[in-house]
Amino acid sequence: MERRILLEHDHVKDIHTLDVYRQHNGYKSVEKALKTMKPDDIVEEVKKSGLRGRGGAGFPTGMKWSFLAKPEGVPRYLVCNADESEPGTFKDRYLMERIPHLLIEGMIVSSFALGVHTSYIYIRGEYFYILEILQKAVKEAYAAGLLGKNILGSGFDHDMYVHPGAGAYICGEETALLESLEGKRGNPRIKPPFPAVAGLWGCPTVVNNVETIAAVVPIVNDGGEAYSKIGIGKSTGTKLISASGHINKPGVYEIEMGITVEDFIYSPDFCGGIRNGKKLKAVVAGGSSVPILPADLIITTAAGQPRLMSYESLGDGGFATGTMLGSGGFIVMDEDTSIVKNLFTFARFYHHESCGQCSPCREGTGWMEKILKKFMAGKATLKDIDLLWDIQSKIEGKTICPLGEAAAWPVASAIRHFRSEFEEYVKHPQSIQDVKHYFRLNNIEQAV
Ligand SMILES: Cc1cc2nc3c(=O)[nH]c(=O)nc-3n(C[C@H](O)[C@H](O)[C@H](O)COP(=O)(O)O)c2cc1C
Repeated sequence: MERRILLEHDHVKDIHTLDVYRQHNGYKSVEKALKTMKPDDIVEEVKKSGLRGRGGAGFPTGMKWSFLAKPEGVPRYLVCNADESEPGTFKDRYLMERIPHLLIEGMIVSSFALGVHTSYIYIRGEYFYILEILQKAVKEAYAAGLLGKNILGSGFDHDMYVHPGAGAYICGEETALLESLEGKRGNPRIKPPFPAVAGLWGCPTVVNNVETIAAVVPIVNDGGEAYSKIGIGKSTGTKLISASGHINKPGVYEIEMGITVEDFIYSPDFCGGIRNGKKLKAVVAGGSSVPILPADLIITTAAGQPRLMSYESLGDGGFATGTMLGSGGFIVMDEDTSIVKNLFTFARFYHHESCGQCSPCREGTGWMEKILKKFMAGKATLKDIDLLWDIQSKIEGKTICPLGEAAAWPVASAIRHFRSEFEEYVKHPQSIQDVKHYFRLNNIEQAV
């Protein structure tokens, strides 16, 4: 069964409007926080809740908030990362489209906790229609006195802006996002200083994912302790999972952390099993950047334990036999999937999206794409497998931002777990006609 906390009311008719949202307890946390709590109490509750960032890295939110520098006379900012461009991830889109006021409510309460008077929602440029939904909701909130001066008579002032993104995956990296928000090219910054010390316009800034900020609402309403009791171990609360691929029921699911991966894939409450009765081949569990795992390792850890939907269990075994929860972009592949072809698609994406600042990423992503294209076209040799491995190993850890790792990890894990498939492409080249057709379909130049 789903555990619906954030999505409790997502199917209520017109829940995107302020009136209907308020009829379903909407903005209760703002009333509670602004009228009965001190900012530091909220930070404490978030710490107690064990909430971890839902944007991918899983960093503890309360701890991030407590790092925010508070120099006298300097503004602080809260920026919501709604750039959501990771292939396989579409949960923030769903939340913002269905329940825009939940995000706005979370932004107000979080801003109050952090002493922030101006916040931004930086939304992926391609989500233009959702930008309009959010802008409309922000306007409604201003008209109801939930934004602007002296919110609900509490003396707290807050302004919120919705800003369209620049149409690049790299603008989801938090410092590239800040550059873009400042009107510059979205190149990641060298850290330190981290945004908590020098972020937007050089001022202390917290950057949080949409789902992270939305989760602050139930934490304030019900208390951090209640939230910490949901989930398992250090993976507290619920998680929105974007489920896609060869499953019977793709979509966005809100799960309690700790259910088994097997249950998530096969239960009729979630993905409903593999399409057309096929066998499971592999899963990319956390968005395109995390290591791919073959069926046996995604269902059971190398230590023989059932794999759970949690940060710890998905990571069990390190990258040798494990993966990451990441942003929760759960891509399921059936027995007919070509891992090499899939990897080529990912490699094209990362090459296209590399900002080009760091040479290992700029050169390496293009090189990996080229070699994978050779495999596809039946022109690779066995040595190319080792070359691919070598290139990815020279990107990881050698770039300003983790886009390098995001490009390298899928390659490393595909070779680690599916080496024989690469060998197959060398020994028995796929039908060239097939490849030509695939290239044509995807607008890829035929020459290798
Ligand atoms: C290339 C790249 C793209 C990213 N895209 C996103 C994104 O679209 N949304 C997001 O929340 N975090 C994204 N992140 C992670 C952010 O840098 C940052 O860690 C996150 O917004 C922090 O929020 P959280 O602590 O609430 O997870 C991306 C990171 C990288 C390296």
